[in-house]
Amino acid sequence: RKVIYGLLGTPTTFDLEEVLADLEGGHEAVLVPSGLASISVALLSFLRPGDHLLVADTVYPPTRSFCDQHLARFDITVDYYDPLVGGEIESLIQPATRVIFMESPGSFTFEVQDIPAITEVARKHGITTILDNTWSTPLFFKSFSHGVDVSVHAATKYLSGHSDVVMGAIICAEHAWDNVRRTHRHLGQCVGPDDAYVTLRSIRNLSTRLNAHHRQGMALGQWLSQREEVAEVLHPGLSEHPGHALWQRDYLGACGLFSIVLHPKSREAVLAMVNGMELFRIGASWG
Ligand SMILES: Cc1ncc(COP(=O)(O)O)c(C=O)c1O
Repeated sequence: RKVIYGLLGTPTTFDLEEVLADLEGGHEAVLVPSGLASISVALLSFLRPGDHLLVADTVYPPTRSFCDQHLARFDITVDYYDPLVGGEIESLIQPATRVIFMESPGSFTFEVQDIPAITEVARKHGITTILDNTWSTPLFFKSFSHGVDVSVHAATKYLSGHSDVVMGAIICAEHAWDNVRRTHRHLGQCVGPDDAYVTLRSIRNLSTRLNAHHRQGMALGQWLSQREEVAEVLHPGLSEHPGHALWQRDYLGACGLFSIVLHPKSREAVLAMVNGMELFRIGASWG
């Protein structure tokens, strides 16, 4: 790629894009200023007025708002599907269905999607698949070997890894690349080279960090599952999780993000637990 003008990329942003595409096994990647931008730019790259879109019911809530409030203005309709639908998604496809959007595991509730089953159906119908792969990062889920066309990431989380960058990335299979590159350019998306530099440096230790998150998340999940206050631990790496078999089949690891469901307790007791934590602080995100 040639350096022409900052908006179109710099040597540092090109390097980061190349590293991300290589890590996930994609053709090319582009950077955007946030994880949310990776979702909106990817969707806008494939949808036209009159199209229909299928979105997993458990997506990151701002993805849903973008579909309901923004895409609706362009006469694009959306249906939310059960993330556990697997290959039966075929029954939800309409003549105007253009995109299937997945996020696995689902935000907050951690349902693991049968991505190969969904992408197989999508291919048969000429439908583009987009996966929010933030939880796994390019290390723990290889989207393109599971048939995904476009993988989107909040680089704000594990890719940059130190709570000091907000960034997104869109990684594409070869046949999806032209649409994404064109839309990215038309919408004037770019990131500064300093943020790209910091993220490139973080990626050098991504595997060390993620393997530690995997080990510690599993240990903590196992410990929490023994606690009498905890009704359920929503962690796909634990054998009792309903999505464990799919996770074991398709994923190469788990990051440190999972949820717990508590037995009913008073609001005061929950507040005392959260406010009394010494190792964890309350945060607005997981970056
Ligand atoms: C699964 C997922 N995707 C995308 C995003 C959006 O990332 P950003 O905050 O960089 O816009 C988030 C943020 O929490 C997320 O959890």
